[in-house]
Amino acid sequence: MTHGLDHIASAVTDLEKAIETYTRLFGVTVHARENLAERNLEVAFLKVGNVMVELISPTSEASTVDDFLKKRGEGVHHLAFKTGHVEDAVETLKGRSFRLVQVPAKGAHGRTVAFLHPRDCHGVLIELVGEP
Ligand code: CO
Repeated sequence: MTHGLDHIASAVTDLEKAIETYTRLFGVTVHARENLAERNLEVAFLKVGNVMVELISPTSEASTVDDFLKKRGEGVHHLAFKTGHVEDAVETLKGRSFRLVQVPAKGAHGRTVAFLHPRDCHGVLIELVGEP
């Protein structure tokens, strides 16, 4: 079902400041940066050793990440796992009583992603990331 961790995502209020923090902390630079207009998000990926960290910041109040920041403040937002073919994985998981908060759709890097309901995963928002 999974081939391991793809990335850890942190919700931040100021993307530039957060990038600066990771640069100061680990000397890392931005690996990729993207504006996900349809999701009202700006994201930056930083490679920290063999772990990819995704910093996500809302670009409008329409973003669910904006709600997250207002409710909970900055912090870990989701864990993303590599999942082969996302649509197939989602069908299997639905059969195992997992609910979705986002059906498979294009995410960062043009990859297909889906999100499972945190209530079904002990409070953790889990992203499934498709692999080519
Ligand atoms: Co992610």
